Amino acid sequence: MARPARLRKKGISTLVRETSLHPGDLICPLFVDENLRAPVSIPSLAGFSRHTVETAILEAEEVTELGIPAVIVFGVPRHKNETGSSALSGIVQDTISAIKANVPKATVIADTCLCEYTSHGHCGIVDEAGTIRRDPTLEMLQQVAASYARAGVDIVAPSGMIDGMVGAIRAKLDKEGFDAVALMPYAAKYCSSFYAPFRDAVDSGCAFGDRSAHQMDPANTNEAVREVRLDLEEGADIIMIKPALPYLDIIYRIKQTFNVPVAAYSVSGEYAMLRSAIDNGHLTDEAIYETLLSMKRAGADMIVTYFAKEAAKTLASQ
Ligand code: PBG
Repeated sequence: MARPARLRKKGISTLVRETSLHPGDLICPLFVDENLRAPVSIPSLAGFSRHTVETAILEAEEVTELGIPAVIVFGVPRHKNETGSSALSGIVQDTISAIKANVPKATVIADTCLCEYTSHGHCGIVDEAGTIRRDPTLEMLQQVAASYARAGVDIVAPSGMIDGMVGAIRAKLDKEGFDAVALMPYAAKYCSSFYAPFRDAVDSGCAFGDRSAHQMDPANTNEAVREVRLDLEEGADIIMIKPALPYLDIIYRIKQTFNVPVAAYSVSGEYAMLRSAIDNGHLTDEAIYETLLSMKRAGADMIVTYFAKEAAKTLASQ
């Protein structure tokens, strides 16, 4: 008689386990702030701080020692303006080169967008109506990506969902001799309410309007396939899908359709949701493993998660 339960015995169950989660699958977010002389904790992201370049190095060291291969860097600049030009040089470039010099084992990914650098908070250069002007925005993103590459970044992660951004950045990097720098665009990025804690963390909320004109409608699936196809044609190496938990179907479909490396970005709101449930005693921290595993099961090869350090510690102790 067929009895699936035979395989659920301790010892056998590990042999037949179909999906695994390792620290090596994880990417840890890292916030750096040009205005600081010492780290400051981020109220909306319990356990996270904005760092200085010096403490970012320590953070990268700790992360790599836990077996987590990569950090993704987000910057808070001293100055913002209409065009976001302070993204061209400053804390992010300094952090990239400092980590590469001091923690050579760490893979450094740079989130590449203008929303942290524009005074209005939009992800590009906008007209009076708040509509993104594509050409000047792409030109700025090309310059920013090249500056990250000069600082030694391993992976550029353009997150603005601007049409043509992947091809434009790939062309620029190749032209400047950075053909070894990989591209991990946020290929299917939904216009989601789950980004709220992050926007508090980096002060990147919109002064007017919202991002629905360039981020995807949560109701759409076929559109994600189209977005990903375009990004692959333009030279994407890894496809990022964001958020993760409410979009597991998208992760699954993209992996099934294209079979390319897929990154799931488990965003700040997903973290906040679980964090507060755990901190309030409604769930145990086992929910972290189960949640991250769901993303692996759906097809993600790697996960950007605010639980990276915590999950790596737990996995090491098992
Ligand atoms: C854009 C960017 C955002 C996030 C990552 N990159 C914010 C946005 O699109 O509004 C959100 C990440 C998170 O919520 O954890 N630079």
